[in-house]
Amino acid sequence: MTKPDRRYALITGANKGLGRETARRLGQMGMTVLVGARDAARGGTTADELRRLGIDARPVHLDVTDEATVRAAATAVEEDFGRLDVLVNNAGIVEDDVDPSATTASLARDIYATNVFGVIATTHAMLPLLRRSPAPRVVNLSSRLGSLAKAADLSSPHRQLLAYNSSKAALNSLTLHYAREFAGTTFKINSATPGYVATDLNGHQGTRTVEEGARIVVHLATLGEDGPTGGFFDDEGPVAW
Ligand SMILES: NC(=O)c1ccc[n+]([C@@H]2O[C@H](COP(=O)([O-])OP(=O)(O)OC[C@H]3O[C@@H](n4cnc5c(N)ncnc54)[C@H](OP(=O)(O)O)[C@@H]3O)[C@@H](O)[C@H]2O)c1
Repeated sequence: MTKPDRRYALITGANKGLGRETARRLGQMGMTVLVGARDAARGGTTADELRRLGIDARPVHLDVTDEATVRAAATAVEEDFGRLDVLVNNAGIVEDDVDPSATTASLARDIYATNVFGVIATTHAMLPLLRRSPAPRVVNLSSRLGSLAKAADLSSPHRQLLAYNSSKAALNSLTLHYAREFAGTTFKINSATPGYVATDLNGHQGTRTVEEGARIVVHLATLGEDGPTGGFFDDEGPVAW
């Protein structure tokens, strides 16, 4: 049953990496965390591990590229809790290093299916539940590589991943358009960039820990009513779009 003073957070792709760490931190702050995972067994294992830490964690089967699972997840959250307070659109994939000129539409379509359309599907399905929250928070896991301002500086080094980088630029655009629709309400909708974090996404080449990377995500997921909306942030503050 829903408890009015408890907060319910759904994190997509929460079975490992930044999603798992975000779930752990939000759980330790007293939220019920819904561990979204496309592989139900992996989600169950992570939820079990988090429960052993004293966290109220529940697995939710959710493949962001499969709208049937997204809709089923929304139905399950509604039946179990009646509302959602926090949505962290964390699930994401990246292509191997390949020059822009060698990137095929098929590769880009796969990346966009998760990083862009997956976020639209999940957000669209969860918005009716978020509207029932007194203080809804949405955090989209973006990247500095999605910054058009950085890409536009042709003289500065910038890792060239056509599909991934442009998918995160598109994701930032989603953040702005949702934030505009909900401006003046209690919603806070922002993009976060965690820095270069050692996870499976980059073969653990990242220079930051998941604890460091998840800090800005947790901050934006727990903003007070005077917090920003429609922004792009890292640990140190606003990031150029
Ligand atoms: N690591 C970095 O340096 C970095 C920097 C900037 C932004 N980010 C962003 O941070 C987010 C998390 O990345 P990470 O570094 O933690 O990567 P990760 O360890 O590879 O975790 C990615 C998570 O997304 C899940 N996922 C992938 N496709 C999915 C789908 N279709 N449906 C549901 N879940 C799916 C994965 O599930 P499986 O286990 O089933 O594959 C996994 O749980 C991503 O959006 C990424 O772009 C990361």
